[in-house]
Amino acid sequence: MQVVKYVFQPHGDERGQLVALEEYIDIPFEIKRVYFMYDTKDGVIRGHHAHKSLEQILICIHGSCKVRLDNGKEKKVIPLEKPYEGLYVSNSMWREMFDFSSDAVLMVLASELYEESDYIRDYDEFLEYVKNCGDTESAEEV
Ligand code: TYD
Repeated sequence: MQVVKYVFQPHGDERGQLVALEEYIDIPFEIKRVYFMYDTKDGVIRGHHAHKSLEQILICIHGSCKVRLDNGKEKKVIPLEKPYEGLYVSNSMWREMFDFSSDAVLMVLASELYEESDYIRDYDEFLEYVKNCGDTESAEEV
């Protein structure tokens, strides 16, 4: 399974750092939605779902967490601990986010508005879905 992690350009000077993200330039899709998770309790695992169409970039802009990606054949755990790194999560990818530090802020840039019908929340259904659509190898390693 190929994992795509973007390393964004920090604009640093003596005042500190700044990262700017523009759709179709730094982010490979139109950004239609932004959400973030914070104050995540110890031991919590979030996610447990895949999307039929949605693409996302996950950025841990403060603290750290881990993301488990699963394309139905293979699983990989990717640590996120830098505010200038973004993990690309394609459609048809089961994801779980865990090991949140108490100060973690996980920001998600999403290609679509919130749409419950785009979710696959049952793991067996996900396995059946990827077996039938065969679209799990679309990401490229960078
Ligand atoms: P949930 O899907 O459980 O988050 P995750 O699976 O990533 O841990 O979402 C938690 C709640 O927030 C749920 O009631 C739906 C709501 N929600 C929105 O209203 N808009 C959104 O964009 C997202 C991601 C969630």
